[in-house]
Amino acid sequence: MAGRLKDRVAIVVGAGSSGPGWGNGKCTAVTFAREGAKVFCVDRKRAAADETVGLIVKEGGDAASFECDASNNAQVKAMVDACMAKWGRVDILDNNVGIGSTGGPVELSEDEWQRVFNVNVTSFFLTAKHVLPVMEAQGRGAIVNVSSIASIRTPKGISYVAYNASKGAVNSLTMAIASEYASKGIRCNAILPGLMHTPMIDFLAEEYAKGEKDHNQAYDKMIAIRNRASPTGKMGTGWDTANAALFLASDEAAYVNGHLLVVDGGITLRA
Ligand SMILES: NC(=O)c1ccc[n+]([C@@H]2O[C@H](COP(=O)([O-])OP(=O)(O)OC[C@H]3O[C@@H](n4cnc5c(N)ncnc54)[C@H](O)[C@@H]3O)[C@@H](O)[C@H]2O)c1
Repeated sequence: MAGRLKDRVAIVVGAGSSGPGWGNGKCTAVTFAREGAKVFCVDRKRAAADETVGLIVKEGGDAASFECDASNNAQVKAMVDACMAKWGRVDILDNNVGIGSTGGPVELSEDEWQRVFNVNVTSFFLTAKHVLPVMEAQGRGAIVNVSSIASIRTPKGISYVAYNASKGAVNSLTMAIASEYASKGIRCNAILPGLMHTPMIDFLAEEYAKGEKDHNQAYDKMIAIRNRASPTGKMGTGWDTANAALFLASDEAAYVNGHLLVVDGGITLRA
């Protein structure tokens, strides 16, 4: 069913991935392009954005890359200006950047708390700040914010207080924008992925295994724990996030607004 985003212009922020393989943003950018969108691939790492553009162009799609730290106001404004200069509109904004950090309120430093909030929340605020006037002038637009089930659930044994709270803020921001802009033809929804097997997870598994005697065994152990945590027996992938983003960005979701779409194989059903 190609063409669900025909003639649409989409900005995907965090369109690269933090290592080899398929992250949520990379899968989303490619999926949008396969459905006919022109995709403005934005990442703080130019090479990561360029790689995604290369994948899209190779398949015959239309894409451009832009280097931007999404937590920097001036850079985000420049990003929107550059997309407007190239394609003259922004129909879809997919906010995908995010970083994790472990620790509870006592052990986490204030600086680390601020760093996580800058990347995970301020970036979504800033992209909305500069894209909403464009969408309002167009009389249409769809924003998709990538949150996490960490916003509604805390895993046993590990403390992620800044990540949990930042993703909770993403949910509230999503609903506030959805309510305020519904009458202007703009929808805003969030995706709450569960445990997804993306390059970020490979990186974390590597980190976990680094100091261990049997590196490969330790690596596999962490991956197996994440697979077992899902009722399906395996983690999801960036494509699961991308397909949810495609639905929310498309006209099929024309009456879906302010929704927090859980994509987790059923993990949140478990106590
Ligand atoms: N992987 C999971 O299990 C999982 C689960 C729930 C939610 N998420 C969320 O999905 C999103 C993407 O995760 P992923 O696993 O695909 O990660 P990833 O690290 O592979 O991809 C994120 C991309 O965003 C870019 N980025 C980071 N900070 C940026 C900034 N300030 N400005 C511009 N670009 C920036 C990175 O360079 C990277 O290319 C995040 O918001 C994450 O919190 C992931």
